[in-house]
Amino acid sequence: TVLVVDFGAQYAQLIARRVREARVYSEIVPSSMPVEEILAKNPAAIILSGGPSSVYEPGAPTVDRALFEAGVPVFGMCYGFQLMARTLGGTVDNSGAREYGRTDLTVSKPSSTLFEGTPAEQAVWMSHGDACSAAPEGFTVTGSTDVVPVAAFENDEKKLYGVQYHPEVMHSTHGQQVLEHFLYRGAGLRPDWTTGNVIEEQVAAIREQVGDKRAICGLSGGVDSAVAAALVQKAIGTQLTCVYVDHGLMRKGETEQVEKDFVAATGVQLKVVDAEERFLKALAGVSDPEEKRKIIGREFIRVFEQAQLEILQEDGPEVAFLVQGTLYPDVVESGGGTGTANIKSHHNVGGLPDDIEFELVEPLRQLFKDEVRMVGAELGLPDEIVQRQPFPGPGLGIRIVGEVTKERLDLLREADAIAREELTAAGLDRDIWQCPVVLLADVRSVGVQGDGRTYGHPIVLRPVSSEDAMTADWSRLPYDVLSKISTRITNEVKDVNRVVLDVTSKPPGTIEWE
Ligand code: XMP
Repeated sequence: TVLVVDFGAQYAQLIARRVREARVYSEIVPSSMPVEEILAKNPAAIILSGGPSSVYEPGAPTVDRALFEAGVPVFGMCYGFQLMARTLGGTVDNSGAREYGRTDLTVSKPSSTLFEGTPAEQAVWMSHGDACSAAPEGFTVTGSTDVVPVAAFENDEKKLYGVQYHPEVMHSTHGQQVLEHFLYRGAGLRPDWTTGNVIEEQVAAIREQVGDKRAICGLSGGVDSAVAAALVQKAIGTQLTCVYVDHGLMRKGETEQVEKDFVAATGVQLKVVDAEERFLKALAGVSDPEEKRKIIGREFIRVFEQAQLEILQEDGPEVAFLVQGTLYPDVVESGGGTGTANIKSHHNVGGLPDDIEFELVEPLRQLFKDEVRMVGAELGLPDEIVQRQPFPGPGLGIRIVGEVTKERLDLLREADAIAREELTAAGLDRDIWQCPVVLLADVRSVGVQGDGRTYGHPIVLRPVSSEDAMTADWSRLPYDVLSKISTRITNEVKDVNRVVLDVTSKPPGTIEWE
């Protein structure tokens, strides 16, 4: 394992992902973890991430010299680089030598461990206020910029390396190569970690954890819960029961996909609860977005718990486990770090007796989203499930501006299916993060179709690109694709006589309209 020590910026996750892209397994540890504890994990190499602090700020995170003396290869990036420099006796000044954004790095030793085979001048991404002016003893300076005399240094004997810039970001053109040079050449690691290993490991771990008891899993139709369920099914077969609540707010074909394709691919034992009527009744007369969300959330929990109760009452071994599709970013963000396995979840939200406690099974806790997709594909799940766009829990209920009715849902389902079909046909699925299709049910406009006047509703297309849904930009879709979608929707969907394109980024707009 390569440990990425997180100095408190958003870079550690990206670094961990890049290491895995180099097919070496990595995990993140907080910088507050004592050195002995870090070393006790027996890391094959350590990476010190960037961070928002200056090494001169009082209270800025530091690192114990012992980390560099344990014989473990270390790579410092940005703040990690400066810490390494300062801790080992180099000079770091806060002389006002700032650099932010794209900079040119001049490689001064082209045959070095980190830079061999990369250009003498390369674009790198900088973000720092302090700068290293003298490398520690025993280090060779291997790169500089106009502003920073020491922008990279290496000590092959001690296997210590550092760069002032961020090799993990896309704008550092040879960053991945430099990182791989550290891993393979500096630390002597081999690129042999694959998602195949994950499946084997997890299947064994799940069998061990669950034993001969039973587990349940809620399926949402999304990627994470589907892959988690498939993995657990592979491990324990019929000891797992999945529950899928069809609230009637799904997109066209979605429920059938879970009922048929998912079951066909996995052989999972599935309980489908048809709750459409119940949801529509609860939503009748409601137009306020927050109220809709609350109603859908509340009904969902009630229906799900009722289904759980029914499974609990069936004959068979104790139902002691709840499967969840928690991903590594959630684990890191909630401060969980590594190795926190046996979390209890107390489900007393209402409806279930207080004394029922499930132990969680979270087989995706180590994985990033793209890795989850790879695992899913390897488990034989169909592309339509594995590559699917994020879809909000409240479903189409928050994509109808106005009251939610069966008629409007059917209409929106048609329009959404057309947009999805055409985007897929144009090969654009991987370029867009998601494309909500929204029905403005409270708006009417005048149109002309055939020879007659119409007074129908507009459909909004909201294609966006994003990395994490926190920010997003509207996708510049080709006009001919937009035109085809527009023509088909207005021709094929009753009561829709206008298609409009949302050209707002997030912020200020959110991705969904409600
Ligand atoms: P917004 O509209 O806030 O959406 O920009 C950001 C991302 O989150 C999805 N989303 C949800 N996902 N339950 C979910 O599971 C929800 O209630 C929910 N609301 C929004 C949205 O589709 C987008 O990907």
